[in-house]
Amino acid sequence: MLDAAKKYSTEICDDEALLEAIADAEARYWEANPNSFSLFQRAKAVMPGGNTRTALHFDPFPVYMAGSDGARLTDVDGHSYIDALGEFSAGLYAHKDPVVIEAAEGALGRGVSNGAPGEPEIQLAEAICERFPAIETVRFCNSGTEANLYALQLARHITGRSKLLAFYGAYHGGVFVFSDTSNPMNAPFDWVFCHYNDIPEVVEAIHEHALDLAAVIIEPMMNNAGSIPADKDFLQAIKDSCDETGVLLIFDEIVTSRFGPGGMQSLHGIYPDLVTLGKYLGAGFSFGAFGGKAKYMTHLDPAKPKALPHAGTFNNNLFTMMAGHAGLTRIFTPERAEKLFEEGEALRERLNTVVRETNAAAQFTGAGSIMNLHFTSGVIRSPNDLQAVPRLPYKLFQLEMLLSGVYLATRGQINMSLAISPEDADEIVEAVQSFFKRWAHLL
Ligand SMILES: Cc1ncc(COP(=O)(O)O)c(C=O)c1O
Repeated sequence: MLDAAKKYSTEICDDEALLEAIADAEARYWEANPNSFSLFQRAKAVMPGGNTRTALHFDPFPVYMAGSDGARLTDVDGHSYIDALGEFSAGLYAHKDPVVIEAAEGALGRGVSNGAPGEPEIQLAEAICERFPAIETVRFCNSGTEANLYALQLARHITGRSKLLAFYGAYHGGVFVFSDTSNPMNAPFDWVFCHYNDIPEVVEAIHEHALDLAAVIIEPMMNNAGSIPADKDFLQAIKDSCDETGVLLIFDEIVTSRFGPGGMQSLHGIYPDLVTLGKYLGAGFSFGAFGGKAKYMTHLDPAKPKALPHAGTFNNNLFTMMAGHAGLTRIFTPERAEKLFEEGEALRERLNTVVRETNAAAQFTGAGSIMNLHFTSGVIRSPNDLQAVPRLPYKLFQLEMLLSGVYLATRGQINMSLAISPEDADEIVEAVQSFFKRWAHLL
């Protein structure tokens, strides 16, 4: 058993007992998932590492899903899981919502891809502009990564400046991975980096670089780095500094737009120049959008001389437009958005109570329906605060959760969908509680 654990021993960990616990959980996982393993073997022959999306890879092999319904997933070995991953927040409407199915069937009925504008894109744009106060006009694209690329380029064009400011540890898409600022896949912009929630540093940087600085891009809660909310004062200080210097402020609300009816901008009453959206707003179909003040977005108006081109075959695809509109107006109504935020706050509180009762050095951070486990009891205000936190316990946590029927992100993140019932929430709490009861002594 210790042999199987050896592959983790390159990580900084001198705790043999923890390695043994992981090896034991892995052995149970192997035994329970022969069909997933065999699909993984097939996948490896035709895709590097058997993978086409890094976030879905984990050792020893990922679990392969066969179907889903409501808040439940079923894997190819017949296990049923509570879907606590929620497609990294894009699965807000959960699986097989009849409203989404009806809209998707409506798209099929219209012929899906007509190579022309239609009313559905106007309807989705109207719904988005109505919900998010900082968005006066909007454009659609196909992913959050694309939305951020367009918003950043738009800001560079408008200001005639080239530099961009982002935060250490931030993630704004596949070419904006700032957990490693030297990542060769990152878009080759001239970046200035600051630490999240550090007001003096960012205010100074904005003023110092103002003449060359086109935009600051920030998530009002760092999602990938571990659900770390920004202080309101921090966001306000950035907004004020941007206003003073003519630097455009971009809120990446690709994840945080689910926090209340109007996103985190409305929760804080801080409205940026541009906003990017993605994930759940496409109701499960590929989606991205960027919008903001009409005076900036007008640079994309094709009727204007020197308008910026904005291409994309699938920008107005009918599945996304119709299901997205149905989802935002008929499923995720303002009232439901408020309720979900409260349900999420309550679940996080319960999970933290369970953790505290075992005296483990751990906590769940987050806001509303998104929360992330961290194996530290220290204060977490930026990804820096997580640098020394050991990674091995996350491995054990994920395996044990899978084995208890809770599917969640490798990084210990829960993204609640609207289908998570009080009973599902109880099951998640119970699974986390048994994990900590069993393993707290090792963590
Ligand atoms: C905050 C944030 N921005 C951008 C993206 C990229 O979105 P997409 O995966 O649709 O390209 C993500 C995806 O996880 C995200 O969490």
